[in-house]
Amino acid sequence: MNDTGYLYRVSAAGRVNLIGEHVDYCGGKVMPCALGLKNTVYVRPNGSDFIRLSWSDLPDEVTLDINQLNSYRSLKHARYHAGCAALWKQAGHRVVGCDLYMECTVPFGSGLSSSAAIEVSTIVALAMAAGEAYDPVEVALVAQRAEHEYAGVNCGIMDQFVSANGKAGCALLLDCNTLAHEYIPVELGDCMLIIADCKKPHDLVESKYNERREEVELALKLLQKRLPHVNCLADVKPYELEEYKLLLPPVIQRRAKHVVEECERVRLAATAMRAGNMSAFGQLLSASHRSLSQLYEVTGKELDALAAAAQVHRGCLGSRMTGAGFGGCTVSLVKRSEEEDFKAHVAAEYFEKTGYHPAFYVADLADGIIVEKL
Ligand code: GLA
Repeated sequence: MNDTGYLYRVSAAGRVNLIGEHVDYCGGKVMPCALGLKNTVYVRPNGSDFIRLSWSDLPDEVTLDINQLNSYRSLKHARYHAGCAALWKQAGHRVVGCDLYMECTVPFGSGLSSSAAIEVSTIVALAMAAGEAYDPVEVALVAQRAEHEYAGVNCGIMDQFVSANGKAGCALLLDCNTLAHEYIPVELGDCMLIIADCKKPHDLVESKYNERREEVELALKLLQKRLPHVNCLADVKPYELEEYKLLLPPVIQRRAKHVVEECERVRLAATAMRAGNMSAFGQLLSASHRSLSQLYEVTGKELDALAAAAQVHRGCLGSRMTGAGFGGCTVSLVKRSEEEDFKAHVAAEYFEKTGYHPAFYVADLADGIIVEKL
């Protein structure tokens, strides 16, 4: 035990998704990486029936009664923790009174999954406080439910899964239908990944995100009339969609085309990464962005300007938005020797088009959960 009396330091990672966007809730494969940007929770049991929350960057202190965990849905920050505790308990785990002190280095609202990092680290901290072992896959599933039920976002499993199961230096190739997963070492040769934040304040992300989910659910329902064997949109082959697309209204056709083709791109990207074929990998990134912009329509002016500024730079092999979209970040594959010139070019070009100054983050690929005894 250190001076402050905390017993453990638990952290869970934010993420960057390399490719496979808006396909997790369609049963597709995704390729995210856990980042060194993370949410850290210091935890100590306090022998009471209360969870006391405090933050490094907020003046608030919040106390949650562990026997009333359902009653905190309207709290701004603490509803995430209350939701995690309530659902972890509901899943049959012991939740004990404890003090949790939080520090987050994942920038909020940047599309790098600060909320998944908060949820996953909170659940693991609760398990540590109770002296329980935890299964990272179960942690991810409970964290996803907390996001649905306490944050109102009907998200897929990608963010929470990689936050809990990510491995340093690797991308996680996750089949969101079966949760089967494997790790692919991210070996980029003379290239590097650069994350750029468009810095546009997010708006309406939740409602637009939930609207896309409804659209692809409708696509699946309509296609199943002719393709009864298909369980999820990711199972539909490009030629099958072509054959039956007229069953779908035009907007829904575009959404389905993105999903079906993005799943194909993930397969090709995994092969390219394993073969060290950076030029093929980069082209798939840019093709993914185009599809998210034109077919899925989740980019917006700022992300389009940021990706376009990156894509025209001589040192860039490919660039795309990452995460839910409607603001947030891009990820670009860039020659290491061009890093500074690339950033200067993108910042100037993007500012000229939008009036915003982007921020750049180092894509340092880290472990998902880290638990340290203090
Ligand atoms: C958000 C969601 C994920 C996923 C992405 C888009 O990050 O939380 O489940 O759907 O958007 O790929």
